[in-house]
Amino acid sequence: MLRVRPFAPNDLGAVVAIVKEALRENYPTSLYLDIHKWWRDGFLVAENMGTVVGFLASVMMAPEQSRILMLAVYQAWRRRGVGSALMDAFLNECALRGVKSVELEVRRRNQEAIRFYTRYGFQIAHVLPKFYTDGEDGFKMRRFL
Ligand code: ACO
Repeated sequence: MLRVRPFAPNDLGAVVAIVKEALRENYPTSLYLDIHKWWRDGFLVAENMGTVVGFLASVMMAPEQSRILMLAVYQAWRRRGVGSALMDAFLNECALRGVKSVELEVRRRNQEAIRFYTRYGFQIAHVLPKFYTDGEDGFKMRRFL
């Protein structure tokens, strides 16, 4: 039932709602359209029977290096493989594009996400002191392909 496909501008409302619920952030809609423009195949949504339940947005940092900017799944849909389906599709895209390393930042207290990323072979590269606007530290995590 779950399908992962590239983001389309029609998905904007759904993605904004997931970011609000799952990441508690409210970014201008132009940000998502810019990300879409920069790397179309690196912005993926997961839908179930036509409803978007999660997404992954990324950018290319250098010819062989990508960065996951946001990965989020609606609370009610977690622990059902949606995040994994998005990550699998994303890593496939990276391989097709010749990406050699993927990096991301995550809140130090976000144990669920850190466990998820660790399971995918990401390792903590270093601490990012007071990385978030509320003063929380972040971890830079990286995985080599
Ligand atoms: N506790 C422990 N392990 C977990 C948890 C958890 N809460 N969630 C996922 N995992 C691990 C488990 O090993 C799990 O496998 P299992 O369920 O068979 O044990 C495995 O990851 C895969 O889980 P999925 O079901 O594929 O992942 P899910 O759909 O729940 O998505 C995600 C994971 C995206 C981290 C989700 O928890 C989420 O949206 N969290 C809120 C938003 C967030 O924190 N996003 C990351 C911020 S960092 C950034 O965006 C760059």
